[in-house]
Amino acid sequence: MTAAHTEITTNSSAVASHTHTLFVCQTCASVWQDGKRIGESGGQKLLHQIQQLAQDWELRDEFPIQAVECMSACNRSCVVAFVAKGKLTYLFGDLAGDSSAAVLECASQYYAKTDGLLPWSERPEPLKKGILAKIPPL
Ligand code: FES
Repeated sequence: MTAAHTEITTNSSAVASHTHTLFVCQTCASVWQDGKRIGESGGQKLLHQIQQLAQDWELRDEFPIQAVECMSACNRSCVVAFVAKGKLTYLFGDLAGDSSAAVLECASQYYAKTDGLLPWSERPEPLKKGILAKIPPL
């Protein structure tokens, strides 16, 4: 274990210096015609709902929301991922309807943990079943 790692895992103020990102796939649940998307995709709707709700989120400056085109879980839409330096990476799918409050609640839980661990029993209901990946930190 390096000195830097020790500092991150034992000093709670160092958690704030982590680079966190919430990725939201905006291509999920799209309807296509002749190679063009018709209307707003389910992913775009979810992204906008999350962005709207995050305006009053206490972590909005520490946990940026980034739209992405695809995270290769297209048959499990809608899909989001939590990523941070030195933490587990999570990929969640099957997010139907307005899951924005559950996504931000889970993101807050993720932020609060130094290793990012999100036990099943603590996760909001919409993120209990749709877990697609839990990837170890670097
Ligand atoms: S289209 Fe959303 S994961 Fe591929």
